[in-house]
Amino acid sequence: MRTLTKLFLASISVAFIAVKWSAPSFQPESLRGARVLVTGASTGIGEQMAYHYARFGAQIVITARREKVLQQVADKCLSLGAQKALYIAADMSSESDPETVVDFALQKLGGLDYLVLNHIGPSPFSMWKGDIEHSRWLMQVNFFSYVQMAWKALPSLEQNKGSLVIVSSLLAKMAGPFTAPYSSTKFALNGFFGSLQHELAMNNSNVSLSICTLGLIDTDTAMEKIRGIIDIPAAPASEAALRIIQTGATRQEELYYPWNTYLATLTKDWIPSATNYIVRNAYNYIP
Ligand SMILES: *[C@@H]1O[C@H](CO)[C@@H](O)[C@H](O)[C@H]1NC(C)=O
Ligand SMILES: *[C@@H]1O[C@H](CO)[C@@H](O)[C@H](O)[C@H]1NC(C)=O
Repeated sequence: MRTLTKLFLASISVAFIAVKWSAPSFQPESLRGARVLVTGASTGIGEQMAYHYARFGAQIVITARREKVLQQVADKCLSLGAQKALYIAADMSSESDPETVVDFALQKLGGLDYLVLNHIGPSPFSMWKGDIEHSRWLMQVNFFSYVQMAWKALPSLEQNKGSLVIVSSLLAKMAGPFTAPYSSTKFALNGFFGSLQHELAMNNSNVSLSICTLGLIDTDTAMEKIRGIIDIPAAPASEAALRIIQTGATRQEELYYPWNTYLATLTKDWIPSATNYIVRNAYNYIP
């Protein structure tokens, strides 16, 4: 049995290394002057992405709800080397703001090379208690606004051989407890943009579309949410941000970060009962 386990892990590692090896290598210079729009950029992974793009010398537009914080992030981007760093405050639960933000970026930067969709609305980390209004609201913030922005930016991305980058989650591939509304918005994203990936390829489109599957990342928001409920290791936000940027720049269709999120997507199908047992027992919950 132990030999089998080792063999299993070894073959996964070999497959993983083979995939890494065949991936095109990241050229930081390719981002100098690139016109980038990052959403959810006031904090967490989005903020870290803004700083990485800045260090690579990109021209950035950032957006989130809080104008004051955006201004501070934009200032830091300029000090880190961004050619441009502009911001626009927006509420992605509004029906018009998502398109307004894309228009702003297209106008201020004269086009887009990267659209990086990363924002999420706040959602409780607790058992489903029947709040359908919240689910509907979260669907607009986490899903419909992505569709609106992607469609609005597509002609410019097409013209500029640009990239569309979707920040998604392991919870888009397997459900976990306490995240029913969040998980459904992420499943929706993967369904929609998975379909779009096919259509772009079938159209010989100039646009690359990357879907990024992230595990637990050590952002303040995530850490605060899970405190006392689950105790699993979290991966660093800055590294997650860099890997997302590299995935977009090398035009890859998928990213799994950290690497064990990929393992989880395999085990949930291969050994579902064991996976479910582990997931359910990771939670500190007494009914
Ligand atoms: C594919 O091309 C058709 C015909 O030009 C166009 O109508 C459609 O919007 C394109 N789809 C995508 C996803 O770009
Ligand atoms: C891709 O870009 C080139 C110009 O760089 C353009 O001629 C071509 O029509 C574009 N392809 C699509 C599918 O729009």
